[in-house]
Amino acid sequence: MEVWEIEMSTAHTSAQSAKLILDGQEYDLPMTVGSEGEVGIDIGKLRALTGAVTLDPGYGNTGSCRSTITFIDGEKGILRYRGYPIEEVAEKLQFLEVAYLLLYGKLPTKAEYETFVASVNQHTLVNEEMKNFYVGYPRRGHPMAILASLVASLATFHPSPNEEEVELNIIRLIAKLPTIAAFSYKMSVGQPFVYPRNDLAYCENFLHMTFALPVEPYIVSPTLRKALNLLLILHADHEQNCSTSTVRMVGSSQANVFASVAAGIAALWGPLHGGANQRVIEMLEMIRDDDMDFQKYVAKAKDKNDPFRLMGFGHRVYKNFDPRAKILKGAADEVLGELGVEDPLLEIAKNLEDVALNDSYFVEKKLYPNVDFYSGIIYRAMGIPTGMFTVMFALGRLPGWMAQWKEQRETPGGRIGRPRQIYDGETQRPVPGFDAR
Ligand code: SDX
Repeated sequence: MEVWEIEMSTAHTSAQSAKLILDGQEYDLPMTVGSEGEVGIDIGKLRALTGAVTLDPGYGNTGSCRSTITFIDGEKGILRYRGYPIEEVAEKLQFLEVAYLLLYGKLPTKAEYETFVASVNQHTLVNEEMKNFYVGYPRRGHPMAILASLVASLATFHPSPNEEEVELNIIRLIAKLPTIAAFSYKMSVGQPFVYPRNDLAYCENFLHMTFALPVEPYIVSPTLRKALNLLLILHADHEQNCSTSTVRMVGSSQANVFASVAAGIAALWGPLHGGANQRVIEMLEMIRDDDMDFQKYVAKAKDKNDPFRLMGFGHRVYKNFDPRAKILKGAADEVLGELGVEDPLLEIAKNLEDVALNDSYFVEKKLYPNVDFYSGIIYRAMGIPTGMFTVMFALGRLPGWMAQWKEQRETPGGRIGRPRQIYDGETQRPVPGFDAR
């Protein structure tokens, strides 16, 4: 086996090139440094130069793109949308301001914001024919399946977009996703669909469509409105996570935004990703029903022979704390207090966090609560059923998905995503007849 080594110029800040020595031949690979000092080895010409490819299952060491949208420093627990710290964004902004910021790269002026909100309001209704889709689903069907299908189906109502249609379709999706989501909830509880109202702001409108009944007036509580605004903002973008990378990958084939986002919804559904918020509550309920024995479940999570994982714990990037989890932990106390909700699951979650953070297994593996650990407790207190939790995650992540899709689409020289592989299968062999099989 030839010895291969790679040397990088030590001064990262002025990194010029990395030297790769392969089979005794030296290759200089260009280096790149981002605005926050992140260093990348550009391997765009590696195969042409050396015949070799890199191998990185799960892409933990591979940058797929350059982006100006979201910055995460996993070691320091930093998350910024277009340079603004998540803590300030969560405290000071409305969700549609954050959507505008992620999509267009700047915070809107008051006039720009009013125009944006007005344009979203013009598209909150879905075509009446879309209601026919719902009757085909079993009432208890998972709403993520409905969301992915109906978002992809929006392309049948808005086919072959030209340039301005692309921008309009982004507005359409921001406007219609809450309606599609709320309708799926109403179908699951056997209640009539409640139409959106343009006199209500974005978060109020979703709560109205979800909880109002035609037989009595529904007043949105300021606590619920504030909690939903916070939850949507905290989920709005998270650089190249699994579902966003999926949206980019589908978008790289020049598929339309509805198809790309539908694929992102499907990826988000997985329990290792956005589906974790539902699994966290199911785990906490299991612990509650098992005499609150959270120590037993911490032991199971540490047992290599036990597939059980502490859902809502761990993160590919955050190796300290997830700043969103910190914010949500405080918000959980506040929201439940304001709503007068006593939920034993919150105490179990806090006990679980305390035990885990003082246990060498979790400390050594740098496993901390992530965004999914406390979010479900707030959704629950708001009256949102567990099955809808990942739908709520999708509602928040939508502007981030589309901002990333748009950024890729607008990047000159963009190519279709097509990773290589290392083949480990059979080498060439003749096809045998039946008698030789
Ligand atoms: C989200 O990428 C993003 O940004 C995602 C997200 C976003 O906003 O888009 O932040 C949202 O998806 C948050 C993550 C939600 N998922 C969960 O809470 C599910 C539980 N967590 C894990 O399955 C896991 O931590 C991941 C999926 C989050 C991260 O997986 P990695 O980076 O591939 O890490 P790994 O599975 O290789 O785990 C490293 C080690 C392993 O032990 P060893 O094999 O090294 O001995 O840590 C262990 C794992 O067994 N481990 C856990 C654990 N998570 C990891 N052990 C117990 N409980 C856990 N939760």
